[in-house]
Amino acid sequence: MELREVIGWRRSIRFLLLHKPVELEKIQCMLEAARIASHWGNVQSLRALVIYRDEASQDVLDALPSPVGGYQIQLAPVVIVWYIETAAVDQIVDRLRELLEVGAIGFGESKAKAFDEKLVPLFKAMGDATKVPGIGEIDCGQGIAQATLMAFEQGLGTCCLGTANPDRIRRKLDLPESCRVLLVQTVGYPAESPEAGGQRPRLPFEGLFQLNRYDQPFPRSKEVVEELERDGMLQDPAPLPWREAELEYLRKGLGLKGDGLL
Ligand SMILES: Cc1cc2nc3c(=O)[nH]c(=O)nc-3n(C[C@H](O)[C@H](O)[C@H](O)COP(=O)(O)O)c2cc1C
Repeated sequence: MELREVIGWRRSIRFLLLHKPVELEKIQCMLEAARIASHWGNVQSLRALVIYRDEASQDVLDALPSPVGGYQIQLAPVVIVWYIETAAVDQIVDRLRELLEVGAIGFGESKAKAFDEKLVPLFKAMGDATKVPGIGEIDCGQGIAQATLMAFEQGLGTCCLGTANPDRIRRKLDLPESCRVLLVQTVGYPAESPEAGGQRPRLPFEGLFQLNRYDQPFPRSKEVVEELERDGMLQDPAPLPWREAELEYLRKGLGLKGDGLL
């Protein structure tokens, strides 16, 4: 699959095949993709605890959130707890120096001197300010997004689940205090069709992006849209006519109770 197609097929898959094992290698590929994502200062604060339901203790399983429609967690053979290690930024100077030494940043004969005299004081002055929720989360999001695309490229389905009480999960999973749980991602082979009811609704393009000036919407070319449709990135919007029938099939087949919301 081309990247455009992978992006097109990526959507939150909430119904997974609990009985179909997920290869450890596929999860490794997700983590490899997350590891090479971009991160400010190259400090790599994104971490993950991978939980295989069949192998985990009841204590660990109990630590997972009960998200909206808790069935998502119950149907997941694998759950990835993504978290940020805020202490990673303490290594900022060393990690930047590494970038300098491999030729990724800076140029010219005096670059090492400029690094010590200008860049190092700048980053040292930031102190702990970069440990609060903000830029680190953006970087972690990039890593999680790369891992998610890798999952779909390998035929897996995932759904990111937020939690109202990340610190409870952190404590229950024995993660250090310097860590913040970001989100929990269910992973498994999809029980639903790849379309999963169609591409989910989005706000109109024109209202989201601007070109050069805030009052100037970014022009959306019809030709580009048609090309992306041909490539499978932009797909038929939800709901496909047979979605309700599919949901009913999933509900019965997976033995789900209730309305799947609260
Ligand atoms: C950070 C994050 C947290 C989310 N939390 C939840 C959640 O708690 N429950 C849920 O059903 N979906 C959750 N989602 C999935 C979104 O609801 C989903 O992205 C949205 O429905 C758009 O659909 P799509 O991902 O299928 O395109 C979350 C997504 C993200 C990125």
